[in-house]
Parts: sequence; C-alpha cells; structure tokens
Amino acid sequence: MSIIYNEENRTFTLNTDNTTYQMQVDKHKHLLHLYYGRKSEGCMDWMLSFADRGFSPNPYEAGNDRTYSLDFLPMEYAVQGSGDFRTPALILKDSDGTFGCRLKYKEYEIQKGKYSLRGLPAVYAGDSEAETLVIKLESERLGAEVSLLYGVLPGLDIITRSVRIENRGQGKITIEKLQSASLDFPAGMYDVHTFHGRHTMERVRERTSLPHNAVKIESRRGISSHQYNPFIIISDPETSETAGRCWAMELVYSGGFSAEAARDQFDQPRLMMGIAEDRFSYPLEPGDSLDAPEVIMTFSSDGFERMSHNLHKCIREHVCRGRFRDGARPILLNSWEASYFDFTGDSILGLAREAKDLGLDMIVMDDGWFGNRCDDRRALGDWVPNEKKLGCNLAELSEKINEMGIKFGIWMEPEMVSEDSDLYRSHPDWAMVIPGQKPTRGRYQLVLDLSRREVREYVFESVSNVLEMGNIEYLKWDFNSVIADAYSREEDDQGKLLYDYMIGLYEVLGRLNERYPDVLIEGCCGGGGRFDAGMMYYTPQIWCSDNTDAVDRLFIQHGTSFGYPASAVGAHVSACPNHQTGRVTPLATRAIVAMSGTFGYELDPARLSEEEKEEIREQVKIYRNISGLVRTGDYYRLSDPSRENCFAWEFASEDRSEAVVNAVVVQNHGNMATIYVKPRGLTPGVFYRDEKSGMIYAADALMDTGLPLPPAGRDAESYIYHLIRDESVNM
Ligand code: GLA
Repeated sequence: MSIIYNEENRTFTLNTDNTTYQMQVDKHKHLLHLYYGRKSEGCMDWMLSFADRGFSPNPYEAGNDRTYSLDFLPMEYAVQGSGDFRTPALILKDSDGTFGCRLKYKEYEIQKGKYSLRGLPAVYAGDSEAETLVIKLESERLGAEVSLLYGVLPGLDIITRSVRIENRGQGKITIEKLQSASLDFPAGMYDVHTFHGRHTMERVRERTSLPHNAVKIESRRGISSHQYNPFIIISDPETSETAGRCWAMELVYSGGFSAEAARDQFDQPRLMMGIAEDRFSYPLEPGDSLDAPEVIMTFSSDGFERMSHNLHKCIREHVCRGRFRDGARPILLNSWEASYFDFTGDSILGLAREAKDLGLDMIVMDDGWFGNRCDDRRALGDWVPNEKKLGCNLAELSEKINEMGIKFGIWMEPEMVSEDSDLYRSHPDWAMVIPGQKPTRGRYQLVLDLSRREVREYVFESVSNVLEMGNIEYLKWDFNSVIADAYSREEDDQGKLLYDYMIGLYEVLGRLNERYPDVLIEGCCGGGGRFDAGMMYYTPQIWCSDNTDAVDRLFIQHGTSFGYPASAVGAHVSACPNHQTGRVTPLATRAIVAMSGTFGYELDPARLSEEEKEEIREQVKIYRNISGLVRTGDYYRLSDPSRENCFAWEFASEDRSEAVVNAVVVQNHGNMATIYVKPRGLTPGVFYRDEKSGMIYAADALMDTGLPLPPAGRDAESYIYHLIRDESVNM
C-alpha cells in the first residue's frame, strides 16, 4: 500500500520506493503539508512550528491563539483569501466579484490505479503500478469543492498531482488562477533551476539561489513556448549530479503555464506550477467543474541524475503511448534544410533514392507540398497536394518511394490558416481574431479556433484525408506561431478560450492516434516551442529545435535532458556551414550529437562527397547498433558545460551490460591537457571492452579516473565509446 491514512493523527502518507510525502488535517480542518523527502516513517507533525508572528493574522476559529496562522504554516494547497498572504495556487471569485475562499477538509478516497483527467493528457499506469488519493476540500461560502488528486507510482518515485474544481453551489464561481500543485518547504537556503531560451536556442538551464521575491517563469503565448519550459527544480545549494536533494515539477500541458518559487518572510520556500494566469478567467456555473493539467513530481536525495532517470522513465513508459513508445523509430531524411520550399516530386524521389543508398528508413516531405505554398505567406489550411509541383498525386509518390524500400512521411501545420488560402476565404471567422482590431500575426499566419467543434472536425478530416492519400507512415505536426489574439465567436466567456483550445487540440490528436495507430506523429513548434510532456502523450518524439548546429545542440540537448528522455528528442545531422549559425563542425560530431536523439538527416546527400556518404553509411550502422540503448537506457550527464570545455554524456543499459559514452571538446587549444571522462553506472568489479578499439577497461578505475580522450585535432572534436561488459576477462 503506497497510500496510508492514519485515523489517529489524521495524516495522509504517500510512499514510493525511496520517497515519502505527508499531509495532515489539523484541528481546524486545514490540510497542512508536512513532508516531501527521502523515505521516512511515522507522523512528521513535529516539523510544524507555531509562534506569535506579528502581522500574520489568525483565523477566527483559532480564537485568541495568535500562534496559529495560515500565513506561515505549510499549506498543502495555497488559496487566496484564507489569511495566507504568500502566493496562492487558487483564486476564486463569486458572482458578486468577491475574491477569496477558505478551504476546509471534507473527505478522502483511495483508489487502485492511476486517475485520469477529463480531456487532458496524464500519466497512465496499470492498477498494480499505481494508487490514487483524492482529498476533497470545500468552501462552504462558495459551494466550491476542490479535489486534490494524487497519483503514486512507487516503483518510479513519481507522485503526480492535479486539482478538480467543482461548483456545487447556487451561484457562478470564476476561477481566476488555477495551479495544479503547490509545495511548501521548511525554512532554509535553496536553489531554483529553470529552463529558458528562445527560438533556435531552447531549454538553457539557469540555476540561481532562491530569493525572497518570486522567481516566476510564465508562457503567455498560448503554447508551452521556446522561452520557458514547463519544468522547474528546487534543490539544496550544494546538490550536484550525484549527491544532494532536489525536487522537480513538470507540467503535462502544452499551453500557457506558469511556475513560481519564492522564500517567504520566514525563509520557507513555496513552489507551484499550473496554467498561466494570462487571459485565464474560467467561469463555472452551478454543476460545472474543471480539471487542472497534471504536474509530475519527483524527489531525489541522490542529485539531479536520479531525478532525471525518474522523469525519463515516467515519460517514456507512462506518458508516451502507442506502437512507437517502445518500438524503433525510423531514421529519416527530412527535405526542409535540403531544399526548403524549392522541390518537385522528382527531387523528393531523388532524396528517397539517396536515403536508400545511405541505408536510411524514411523520406519526409516537409513544408511546401500543398496548395500554392511556394513560400511561408500562403496556403496553410489548404491541405490539397500541389500535383503540378509534385508531378503526381501522393498515392503515386508514396508508391514510388515505397518501391525503393523507403517509407514516406509528410509535414503539416493543421492548427493554422493563412489569410491567402481557400480555407480563410470561405471561413474567415474560424481564425482567432479579436473583432474591431487587426490581428497580430506570427509568420504571417493566424491560428484556427480549435475550441469550436466544426473547426476541430475540419482539422481532423483534413489530416485524415492527407494520411489516406497514400502510404504515409509519419506525420510532422507543426505549429509555427503563437496565440496572440484569444477570441472565439462561440465562447460565452473569452477567459475560457486558451484552456478550451488545448482541450480541443488534445481531442483531435487523440482521435488521430486512435484512427492511425501505425502513423508516427512527431511534434514540432518552430522546433522546440511545444516540447512538453502534454504533447509527448500524443507524439512520442518532438523536433527539439530548429537549430541543427551540433555545438548549439549540445547545450540545447543538455538542458532538455534534465526533464525529458532522449527517446523524445528529434535530432538530425544537417549540412555545413550550418544554416542557423554558419558554424562548420565535423560530420562525425554532427552525427554523435544527433544520435543522442531520434536520429535522422536534414541535408541534400547529392551535395556530399563519396567519402562523406561512406561515413554516413557507417554512422547509420552505429546508430542501429545503439538505438535501443539511446531509447531506453539510463542517461548520464558526465560534464558540466557551464564550467567545462567538454560535453560528455552516456547511455547505460538498465542491466549495466553495455554503455555508450560520448564526448565533444568544444574548443581546441594549443597543447591541451588530457581530458578524462568518467563514466557512471557500470558494474563494479568487472571489465568492459570498447567495441571499436577492443581496449579493455576495469569498471572501477574507469569510473574513478575516467577515459583519457585522445588529443582533439580541431574544434568540436568528438569521441564515442561503446563499452560492453566482458565477464571473460581475467587480468
Ligand atoms: C518549422 C519547423 C521546421 C520546418 C518549417 C517548415 O520552422 O520547425 O522544421 O518544418 O517549420 O515551414
């Protein structure tokens, strides 16, 4: 039993293999948070400290006891208007416009298995793998019932949280702020880690000491965004990869979000995460209810490495779904950086031929194949193949490609419409535009209103039509804009729209997954603008960034690795000089970096020399040999790029029988000292053999001293070692 309710001291304890989480219903029926940390026993209410704190008010039921105040007690779910003046997770307003509510404990329920959410993606698990706790709180004045949902996956050290708000009263309630989880910590010094960025430079890690004012990241773009990722970590100041405590929250949602951390006046941190407050104001009529998106939480007392392993496993095995969750992904050649909009059916066939010659699996025809899409100013929404440009229809094209022994995939941007399109001309009101003002466009385009049923139907049908036009086995689902104008003709209240949009998107994606279980959908949003666990529920891989430069990708993929598994990271080898940075890097390095993801190429092979092609054929063989390890192995960050000139990382199989160690020396300098890369996660006391060189290494010495890298002959020199446990060695 991972969830225990103790009647005597009224505590709820959630246990995973290595962690414990505890709450208590106190004498005034408030739900207090007691503990989240390494596995522990007993009632932890000795953590609470009561004192007469000036200007921290006292609830009426505390009488003259000035030592009881919600302004400093650790609250399980912080709500505005309760006398707790720290950041609230929930703000409710009644029909008179009066803010605030008091939440008191009502009842609880423990269920087998993992709860699911209405219309939202969420972690899933079998009945024997998870348990659910529902704690109901209520506000008598508002008639609001607030159900806190907890999913406990003991084997993964994962606890998920969500909240359901139900209006059981007589009048309207408006939710002005809805966070999925808040977490209070005991007083102390902590660090906070966020992942910020921009288009073509996503998820750069930033670590700062947690101040008294809030550290808040928020996407107000209607997408999870390039600028901030819905992922946040709190740690001890000294926590490293392999030691120290850290707590992570990751949101299973692809729309605007916020995450906030601050230390209060008594040095107690509060962390929370949920939907962005921006343009969110959700009315609930009597009888209505709303689910908050889910937060995945994990705690590690062994540093960031264990935290990442927990999250990777959770996403790989309990968020991603379908045939491609565990299956090998195709190695693909994408036409975008090969030819942008400038291609024909014949040139696509040419790419397919090259793909075959290089040993790849699939050719993906990117943007430009439909309507009069000769550039990015037109035709989105008109999902009709341009047969003049292609010289044939999609059935013929895919057939010819398949005859070569290559699979065929296609690009679409289904949530968008160009003003210069037949779709816009016939349904201008399907685009989200605020009446009375000109819209703000991103990449010249407008966003379709997926909160509307008929628009969702159009999107579903048009994608289905395309998928049925030929043998199409892969779809790149792109989104190249932001939601600047949130207006829907059909919404009775525009404050609902951004949430309803996401529910609409998830419905369409869910239906497509169901109808086309054999089609692999790769998510994309100008690269990694919607790289989140919500999308991963429908698209097990996501194009990680529009930046294909190997050196920049080292930083992007390093930041990404804290919260997301390599199996979700779309990564390709592209041409040099790189189209985004102008940098020239060795082909081997571009491949090693891309091999730490779903792997593919995004260049025109016809422009390569025969030596380069031969090198690629070798790379493909290497990747086929290690792809299982990359997809399912444990990921280790072996260097700290903020302090070192070398990126090193490793994938090790769960049974420790093999590992792939990668390194890239970013800058070469004259007469450099030898760099040692220390692998982790090998079996002590045995030997490992490097597959290529045949070198034998004792695991202990290797992990202790490290692999000495041969001198780098150039910038961005790369190294790869495939270490295989060899029990026959006896030296
Ligand atoms: C986005 C994607 C690219 C490519 C283009 C096509 O930028 O991230 O990979 O598909 O759109 O327009």
